[in-house]
Amino acid sequence: MYLDKKIADSIYYVGVNDRQKELFENYLPLPYGVSYNSYLIVDEKVVLIDTVDVAFADLFFRQADAVLQGRAIDYLVVDHMEPDHAGAIGLLTQRYPNIKIVGNKNTFDFLKGYFAVNPENLVEVADGGTLNIGQRTLSFHTAPMVHWPEVMVTYEPSEQILFSADAFGTFGALNGSFRDNELDLTPFWSDMRRYYACIVGKYGPQVQKAIQKLSGLPLRTVCPTHGPVWSSHFSEVLARYDQWSKYETETGLVIAYGSMYGNTQLMAEAIARGAVDSGLHHIVMHNVSKSDASYILSDIFQYKGLIIGAPTYMNGIYPLVASLLHKIEERGIKNRIFGCFGGHTWADAAVKRLNTFAETMKWENVGAVANLRGFSTETECYNLGKAVAEKLLA
Ligand code: FEO
Repeated sequence: MYLDKKIADSIYYVGVNDRQKELFENYLPLPYGVSYNSYLIVDEKVVLIDTVDVAFADLFFRQADAVLQGRAIDYLVVDHMEPDHAGAIGLLTQRYPNIKIVGNKNTFDFLKGYFAVNPENLVEVADGGTLNIGQRTLSFHTAPMVHWPEVMVTYEPSEQILFSADAFGTFGALNGSFRDNELDLTPFWSDMRRYYACIVGKYGPQVQKAIQKLSGLPLRTVCPTHGPVWSSHFSEVLARYDQWSKYETETGLVIAYGSMYGNTQLMAEAIARGAVDSGLHHIVMHNVSKSDASYILSDIFQYKGLIIGAPTYMNGIYPLVASLLHKIEERGIKNRIFGCFGGHTWADAAVKRLNTFAETMKWENVGAVANLRGFSTETECYNLGKAVAEKLLA
C-alpha cells in the first residue's frame, strides 16, 4: 500500500515512529513515543537528510526504498551526529559504498569516531556553504550546541524548507501523519516544553543565536528531527522556543518537595494554600519521589515562581531533591522568584543547602521555613506561600 510521504515537490518524509522505547536517552520518559525524522530530496542527485536510530534501520530503508524506486542515494547530509539520527550511517554506507557524506569539520571529527568512513567520500562544508544537486542548491548553516557542537541546519530555497535538526522538535510519535495540520497537537505542546527543557534547555543563548541567524530565511516549512513537520503552526513553535530560550515565564508557581514521612509534604500543602489565598491560581505541585524530574523541569521552564522543600538527609539534602537542584543548576535557569522549606530532627542541612542554591542561581529568595521534629510551622509556611504569590502577582 502506498503511504503519502510527500512534503513538497520531490521532497519526502522517510522517518520512523518509536512507540517501544520507555526512556529517551535512557532516562526521559516517552509516554507518547517519539519519532526519528529523516527526509529525502530527489533531484538530479538524491539527498538524504539524516538517518534514524539504528534499531529502526530496516523499516527506515524500506520507507526510503519505496520513495527511491530503485534510485541510489548520492548524498547523506549529517545535520546532527547524536546516534538517534546518525545511528544508521554505518548500514547506509554498506548499502551505498560510494555515498558522499556532507558535514562540517566537527561532524567529521565525530563521524570518524563512530564509523569507518572513506575519507574520499566526505564533503566538508563551512557555515553558509552550498551544494548544488540539480535544480536546487542546498545551503548549510551551523547551529552549535543546539544540541551538540557540530549541529547544522540545511535550507532548501525553492520550497523554502528548513531541515532544522533537533531545533523545533518535540517528543511524541506521529499519529497517522507527519503534517502539523493533520495532527491533534494537544499532547505535543506540553511534551515540546519537556523536550526543550531536557534536551536544549541548557543552551538558551545558543538557541537564541540560531533563531537570530535563521530569521533572514523565508520559511514555508520546517522539518525537525523529532515530531511534526511544521508549516501552519510554525509561528507558534517559534514563539515557544523563543520564550523558553530567553528563560521568559508565565505567572505561576511550582512547588517541588521531597518528604519521607509526610511532614515536609504538610509544609508544602500550607504553602500552596497561602499562595491560592493571595489570588495565585496557577500552581503545580510535585512530589519528587513520584514525578519524573523531566516533568518538574518542564513546569519550572513555564512558571516564574519556584518553592523547593526537602528533609535533611545524611547531614545533607534529601537525595532526589539534590538531584533536582543539580539539574536546575546545569541548565542555568534564570530569573526565578524562589522560596524554600525543609524538615530536620537534629541538624538543619536541607534549608541551608536550599538557601545556598538560591544564591548560586542569583535568584530572589523570598524566604525559608525550617521545621524541627515535625512541630507545626503551618503559619510560617502559609505566609511563605502568600509572600511568594504576592511577588509573582505584583
Ligand atoms: Fe535528537 Fe540531539 O538528538
